[in-house]
Amino acid sequence: MLSAIKQNDRVVFDLIKAEQVRQGISIRMIPSENYVSRAVMQATGSCLTNKYAEGYPGKRYYEGQQITDQIENLACDRAKELFGAEAANVQTHSGSPANLATYCALAEPGATIMGLALPHGGHLTHGWKVSYTGKFFNSVQYELDPETGRLDYDAIAKLAKEHKPKILISGSSAYPRAIDFTKFQEIAESVGAYHVCDMAHIAGLVAGKAHMSPIPYADVVTTTTHKTLRGPRGGMILCKEKHLAAINKAVFPGFQGGPHMHTISALAVALGEASAPEFEAYAAQVVANAKRLADKLMGYGFDLVSGGTDNHLILIDLRNKGLVGKPLAKAMDTAHLVCNYNSVPGDTAGPFNPSGLRLGTPAVTTRGMKEDQMDLIAGWINTISEHLEDEAVISKIGTEVEELCGQFPLPDSFIPPQ
Ligand SMILES: Cc1ncc(COP(=O)(O)O)c(C=O)c1O
Repeated sequence: MLSAIKQNDRVVFDLIKAEQVRQGISIRMIPSENYVSRAVMQATGSCLTNKYAEGYPGKRYYEGQQITDQIENLACDRAKELFGAEAANVQTHSGSPANLATYCALAEPGATIMGLALPHGGHLTHGWKVSYTGKFFNSVQYELDPETGRLDYDAIAKLAKEHKPKILISGSSAYPRAIDFTKFQEIAESVGAYHVCDMAHIAGLVAGKAHMSPIPYADVVTTTTHKTLRGPRGGMILCKEKHLAAINKAVFPGFQGGPHMHTISALAVALGEASAPEFEAYAAQVVANAKRLADKLMGYGFDLVSGGTDNHLILIDLRNKGLVGKPLAKAMDTAHLVCNYNSVPGDTAGPFNPSGLRLGTPAVTTRGMKEDQMDLIAGWINTISEHLEDEAVISKIGTEVEELCGQFPLPDSFIPPQ
């Protein structure tokens, strides 16, 4: 796959090769990352990158769409079938533009939107003030219950009654618990709001029946396609038929020009993979691995936000250990255990040195790791947290991590370059 790059551009080839090696010898626990199949990788790098296709199937602004129309229709049909959605738009370039386009399709600039605050697990595009979603709209943010670390549906309902948002957003980037979309729908209905669910993090769990689906309850569901869903980097919007015209118009010509047809073809491949029975086993194992890792970490005295997990991610509040996230994440990275530091609810430390660590199990599960390997990982994290400055300890763990990775070869997208 990389032979032409090697021949034409040795500099880029060497960098890609180095990244392949890094991904190969690392336990990658950033919950929004994964390994795609070789088929998805090849579609992403196909001739479809050469094609402009502004517009939608059957109504394009350029000729030569005999094949692109079929590909986009196929991706939409597979998305609708897999998730049981009435309508789909597969053109958004990623998750953030999918959210912005959705809000603009449903509400005027300046309207009130209500989403989960970033330090409580929401995404920037759920109305956080540094995002334009928090500038173009009047953003009201709900928070987690400070005692339980969980969504407090009564408090959300009260806030919604007070502010009467036009859009109520469910979904998150760092919430380790199952979300009850029926409750969000009830709240949205009670105040006449649209319910937009951003299922980016859990789309693969929804597809694999390891998390409740928001599709029956939300007006519009947005998602990235590259996290638990294991597709190419991109975005997708699923909605009720009655919203499709407004969503399509907001995506193109509202926010974007030509769709990335190579990505859409790779998404069609990924959606096909996610429809296979094996995908349900993967989704179930992602959750089983996260639960096991959470239990083991708590056994070592780590304080987990909400006291555990129901999904693919874990949020550690390091304050009881007298630690902050960044030095631990950096020491772990040196030992090839890759995660990200993260704010935790009630965090008074700034976003560049927050008190938490966010871990996830999608990539290690794709690699074939199970509960026994989670036990090892928890032990390594604990040892590193107690020896942050000890290079010998960290280096020894790094060697052990590499050895473990050697027992779980990468999915077949990672044929080593010659
Ligand atoms: C819940 C959620 N929505 C949207 C996004 C944005 O996706 P992208 O980075 O593709 O713009 C993310 C990214 O992490 C996310 O976690």
